[in-house]
Amino acid sequence: MFWHCLVIASLSAALFASDAPALVTQPENPLAGYSFYGNSDYSSKVLQKAVPQFQREGKEGLARQAARVASVPTFMWMSSRDQIQKLRPFAEEAQHQVRSGAKLLLPLVIYNLPDRDCGAKASSGELSIADNGVDLYKSSFIDPIAATIKQFPDVKFVLVIEPDSLGNLVSNINKTKCRNALEGHKESVSYALRTFDLPNVHMYVDGGNSGWWGNPTNMGPAAKLVGEVWRRAGRPRAFRGLATNTANYNAWSVSQCANYTQGSRNCDEKRYINAIAPLLQREGTPAHFITDMGRSGVQPTGQWAWGDWCNALNTGFGLRPSTQTDDPLLDAWVWIKPGGESDGTSSVMAQRFDPKCGQADAKQPAPEAGQWFQEYFEQLLRNANPPFEE
Ligand code: BGC
Repeated sequence: MFWHCLVIASLSAALFASDAPALVTQPENPLAGYSFYGNSDYSSKVLQKAVPQFQREGKEGLARQAARVASVPTFMWMSSRDQIQKLRPFAEEAQHQVRSGAKLLLPLVIYNLPDRDCGAKASSGELSIADNGVDLYKSSFIDPIAATIKQFPDVKFVLVIEPDSLGNLVSNINKTKCRNALEGHKESVSYALRTFDLPNVHMYVDGGNSGWWGNPTNMGPAAKLVGEVWRRAGRPRAFRGLATNTANYNAWSVSQCANYTQGSRNCDEKRYINAIAPLLQREGTPAHFITDMGRSGVQPTGQWAWGDWCNALNTGFGLRPSTQTDDPLLDAWVWIKPGGESDGTSSVMAQRFDPKCGQADAKQPAPEAGQWFQEYFEQLLRNANPPFEE
């Protein structure tokens, strides 16, 4: 209730401030009444890797529970150019279901910025700014994905644009790789927002999480940056707002804040989105949200510090994807990070080794980012909240 009043108070403050642009009217949740298409990329990992592994280990109960996880829809990550070819068969299948009456959303993560993951090492990608990465990103990554999306006008796509990108530009700009990437990242993210401004798309740019952007130091600059790229993209109509908590572990809403949230008043995602929404409104941008709950089932987690993002201990699968939420700002709870895929390798010898993945609050040994991590999947499943039935 308090937060509600705060939002209303801030909205009216924005309304009456002389330099504030008119508020964008808040249309109904465009995702309501739809369900997410579950891609077989994830379900086949669960059914072909996790389930047989549990069976080999004599964990029959976990094997039966895992088979249920396989039908939870997760976002498909377009994290390199060779992933693009997977999109068409999924879109064809979704289209087929739509033509038989299903109301489906096809969820995708767009994740291939040049000099990607500039604040950490674990997920650095295939393109580099020094090597013509911005042009390649546009012409050989964004353009072909958009071309495919256009060919399936009756399928609705929900896009999460570039996890970590704007987040790093706000808080890691002191790191050389991020500083050098500033212009290229703004240009690339704006280009993506402009190019995906299509009638069958709803897009959310990555908005960090309550532990990252939710503090007063970062929240103002973050909202300004979102406003900047949104304007630069030509105020795309398909833009809905922010995706939060991507690949993180924060609670949706807790009555008691975890110790590692260090007194932050925005210690969970519900508080965070309600705090940043009025700042986005002030920028003139739409301010709706989707929030990743895939690994948020256990609170508090085993994280030592709020910023410990890598394969955190004592986490569990969380709320299932749904467009029926308890907050008017939230369009859907979603599973963006496919639970069971690693956040980064714990091998100190690896080129993409990041110290966060070698800390004692990160599960180890861990494979490279994106690779199947059976022991992590088992942790998420054992701790799932709500639990999976056998
Ligand atoms: C990895 C990607 C992967 C994604 C989803 C990221 O951390 O860098 O390659 O697709 O996680 O698991």
